[in-house]
Amino acid sequence: MTDFEEIIKTRRSIREYQDKDVSDEDILKIIKAGMQAPGSRLGAEPWEFVVIKNKKTLAELAEIKPRVKTAPVAILLVANIERAFYKLHWQQDMAAAAENMLLEAVNLGLGGLWNGVAPTEETMEKVADLFGLDNENQKPFCVITIGYPAEGWQNKFMDKFDEGRIHYEKY
Ligand SMILES: Cc1cc2nc3c(=O)[nH]c(=O)nc-3n(C[C@H](O)[C@H](O)[C@H](O)COP(=O)(O)O)c2cc1C
Repeated sequence: MTDFEEIIKTRRSIREYQDKDVSDEDILKIIKAGMQAPGSRLGAEPWEFVVIKNKKTLAELAEIKPRVKTAPVAILLVANIERAFYKLHWQQDMAAAAENMLLEAVNLGLGGLWNGVAPTEETMEKVADLFGLDNENQKPFCVITIGYPAEGWQNKFMDKFDEGRIHYEKY
């Protein structure tokens, strides 16, 4: 199996983490992977990232997204609509970035979780309030938590393949 195949196949949602910091170098690599994603318009990608390591802020965020609780770092993905060329495509742009970030976390021996924020208005408003976003032009999309997996949580292969969902030539 190539490294790539291994990463894709073993990525799992890791919801609890060890009490161990993630290096700034790894955080930057994860964000770089996010920015490497396909976007609806090259050069007009909406993504911006808020790195959160402050324990008090993490605790406040965990009140909105409980799985943040044990994470040593959370990265909030914000769509800055003013940067976007295709204004309606921001959730797709952001989703591509989010998945790249989760895969890079696995590549670095870490675990990650996509904590959904958009499109639930109530959650978006709470997150926007916490981080001072205007929620009109700066849309909170999701929170990616990253850390070393806690005991009982690890990236491992789970077969999600379902041949019945593949259609050839016509549906
Ligand atoms: C749009 C989206 C939102 C998600 N939001 C949450 C969330 O708020 N909390 C959570 O624990 N997992 C969340 N997840 C993770 C999914 O529950 C998880 O990917 C799914 O159960 C499949 O498990 P796997 O990632 O291990 O393959 C989200 C995933 C996606 C794609």
